[in-house]
Amino acid sequence: MSAKTPHPSRRRPPAFDLPQFLETRTATVNAALDRFLPCTTMKPKTIHKAMRYSLFAGGKRMRPALVLAAAAACGGRESDALPLACAVECIHTYSLVHDDLPAMDNDDYRRGKLTNHKVFGEGIAILAGDALLTQAFELAAQCKGWQRYSHRQIILEIARASGSLQLIAGQVADLEGEGKKTSAAQLKYIHERKTSALLCCSARLGGMSANCSAAQLKALTDFGYHVGLAFQVIDDILDVTQTSEQLGKTAGKDTQAQKATYPSIVGLEKSRKIATDLTNKAFAALKVFKGRAVALEALAEFLLKRDR
Ligand code: IPE
Ligand code: IPE
Ligand code: MG
Ligand code: MG
Ligand code: MG
Repeated sequence: MSAKTPHPSRRRPPAFDLPQFLETRTATVNAALDRFLPCTTMKPKTIHKAMRYSLFAGGKRMRPALVLAAAAACGGRESDALPLACAVECIHTYSLVHDDLPAMDNDDYRRGKLTNHKVFGEGIAILAGDALLTQAFELAAQCKGWQRYSHRQIILEIARASGSLQLIAGQVADLEGEGKKTSAAQLKYIHERKTSALLCCSARLGGMSANCSAAQLKALTDFGYHVGLAFQVIDDILDVTQTSEQLGKTAGKDTQAQKATYPSIVGLEKSRKIATDLTNKAFAALKVFKGRAVALEALAEFLLKRDR
């Protein structure tokens, strides 16, 4: 061994190829969603067209990636995690279709295309959201459960994260906060629920599908919670700093709608610092995996640095 070659035990592990992970997993998830969802020739055709329109409009697929990366960190099989990865993406897409409705954020563009209600009308967009949410439970019902996590626990996990105490609670508080002076504590309450709950649930479901230990589940919960909070802080920042073309949705809408956001309360610079601190807390939670959570680490970093 030459003087320059580091001792094998001191060599850094090879850098994780996140672009390749995201490309292959997105393809796997898209193919599975395509198999699971009723095709557009099935009656009533309109609803299946509307569901697929938003689902395949080009989302980043970050929640399914979290499910699969968490499963990998716990040594699970990807095929066990896949229905759950698809389920969380269906819930996420439903939440976006409804979030964009005129009665909510009133947005015309999403994922680089016209919003669901702009193409299919409000009635069908509401129903497409309802159907995607229901589809998620049909998908999750296919999981038989694992030794440590029963089928019932998996269903409960998804129902709680998306229900009126979590995702919906956040959306309610978000709407009710429009135009009002909002405290940092109230903003955290909103972000924990409208966004972090589903990202945290994604990381936990990945672990559960690998029959993870209690310590691993706790670490994934901590990780998902902090990554989820950082995710919404960054979303709020991007709304101010990016163009509509880059985002695939109309930029500057938060200011226009007088939404409570981190940039509006603490300014851009402090918001960036908050997102970095939250991401560092997420990294710290991964210690128990002793270097086996490379995909999760890479994802957290990617989510902090993302530009759309
Ligand atoms: C947007 O989520 C809504 C938030 C919770 C901030 P994403 O940024 O993950 O949207 P897609 O799935 O890539 O379209
Ligand atoms: C969306 O938050 C959260 C949910 C859909 C649950 P935003 O309203 O900030 O998301 P965008 O900016 O429209 O994607
Ligand atoms: Mg909203
Ligand atoms: Mg919105
Ligand atoms: Mg936003």
